[in-house]
Amino acid sequence: MAKIVGIIFGEVSYGDFNFIVSRESNLQKGQYVKVNHEVYGWILAQVVAISRYNERYTLNAMAGTTSPKENIASERTVANAKVIGYLDEKGMLKSPKIPFKPGEKVYEADNSIITRTLNLSTREGVYLGLLEGHSSPLRVYLNPNRLVQKHICVLAKTGAGKSYTVGVLIEELLEKKVPVVVIDPHGEYSSLKYPNNNKRELEMMEIYGVSPRGYENVVEFTPDLNLNPQADRKLALDVTKLSVRDFIEMLPSKLTSSQKGMLFEALKAVHAYGKYSLEDLIRIIHEFENKAKWNLITSLEMIRESKIFEGPPVAPHDLVKKDVVSIINLRGVQPDIQEIVVARVAQELFDARKGGKIPPLLLLIEEAHNFAPERGFGSTPASGILRTLASEGRKFGLGLCVVSQRPARIDKNVLSQCNTQIILKVTNPNDLKAISQSIEGFTQDLEEEIKQLPPGVALIVGDVVEQPIFVDIRVKRTKHGGTSVELVRKNRRKKVTTPMTFESIWKRIFRA
Ligand SMILES: Nc1ncnc2c1ncn2[C@@H]1O[C@H](COP(=O)(O)OP(=O)(O)O)[C@@H](O)[C@H]1O
Ligand SMILES: [Mg+2]
Repeated sequence: MAKIVGIIFGEVSYGDFNFIVSRESNLQKGQYVKVNHEVYGWILAQVVAISRYNERYTLNAMAGTTSPKENIASERTVANAKVIGYLDEKGMLKSPKIPFKPGEKVYEADNSIITRTLNLSTREGVYLGLLEGHSSPLRVYLNPNRLVQKHICVLAKTGAGKSYTVGVLIEELLEKKVPVVVIDPHGEYSSLKYPNNNKRELEMMEIYGVSPRGYENVVEFTPDLNLNPQADRKLALDVTKLSVRDFIEMLPSKLTSSQKGMLFEALKAVHAYGKYSLEDLIRIIHEFENKAKWNLITSLEMIRESKIFEGPPVAPHDLVKKDVVSIINLRGVQPDIQEIVVARVAQELFDARKGGKIPPLLLLIEEAHNFAPERGFGSTPASGILRTLASEGRKFGLGLCVVSQRPARIDKNVLSQCNTQIILKVTNPNDLKAISQSIEGFTQDLEEEIKQLPPGVALIVGDVVEQPIFVDIRVKRTKHGGTSVELVRKNRRKKVTTPMTFESIWKRIFRA
């Protein structure tokens, strides 16, 4: 029997209704409720506001100007719920055209009406956590195709749980054998190889129905094995894939036309070798009798010193394999070199995908604002290709996942192309503005909600869900690489077991 949580009262319009909350219900903001409509049947709604009122404690009563009547119920709780809707015969989400009858009972929504109406899968898909707003644990599974064949963004302030959420997402994609390439500026993700050993998190695993494990098929690349000696392989980029244009974008100083000319000539010359290195190219430029060559050589030398083009190149098919997650660990690497790595990896993956040489994949970019900055915050060698990926990647089965703590600083062209938004706590007004501008139909209410989200709780909006939902992100199976903080989770509410009848509630509410 569904539990009654209250009774609709007052004037009822279409989109929402007010109800008097029964005392034992423990109703919370965000909770899902259902009401049986005389015409449409069961309709799902969600509590958006709750207020409590007590006649004994009005200003007048307390000042003694009126005496509170003895028999009046001392406290009333009133809630406002917004109607989500019902499914029609074709399974489409519809809103009722006739308001509810005042006096109608409001029940706690059960798992089945929630999953059906919100079009959530109950058994399979990408399992991110438990639905907020529901007392019995309800797992949220998202459709992997809808999620990965399009672009995703994960946005939140530092420490709100972005990397943790991304870790959960990668675990799920590993289970589904979806190839992922991770740009990892802080070296946080290679811990996916190891099982979670955080005591507090281990204790919570039962609630979320997961158990600790590490993944063998996580391969860690790094451009510099001295900085990251634990990596599995050196990431070397292929210099022979660079066009004059790529060089121009990559080099730190702006080239004059005569320098561009020299670069063009030198590339033509080395192409004749077939295989060549950056040294070969520099050697040829040395031979030119043009003073402008020195600047060009200095720029090329700077890149050579980073050693990113040194060693046997890692090809796209080395990074993208059916059930492998490739981590590109950039910890300690100079920012301008990181930018070049991202630019080249993104470009090569895109070309390989267009040529059908690698399977569809997800390219995940942490600290995306550093690689695809918004106009006014500079540009990087990766800006162009990331913009191209955002607008064309989907067509070729290359999904992007951009992660950032500064939504206002990410290229709007990239952010606005994301079809799924996973947003944790954000408080900075500029960031909130950037989020609301990049998401269609983002309401003021949602903006207020994300300012107050507890850590580890995410708002999920976009194509992958019928309606925005809040998800209590599950604990990770694997070890978390970022610095851990003890996250005080609220106790998931237990169901109140005392059954209530309509009469008993009525009596309790109107005890007059
Ligand atoms: N869903 C979660 N469950 C448990 N702990 C979490 C969760 N999300 C975040 N945390 C904790 O909060 C810390 C910060 O999260 P993290 O994802 O690293 O933040 P950021 O948003 O800066 O990437 C983590 O180290 C972890 O201890
Ligand atoms: Mg992080």
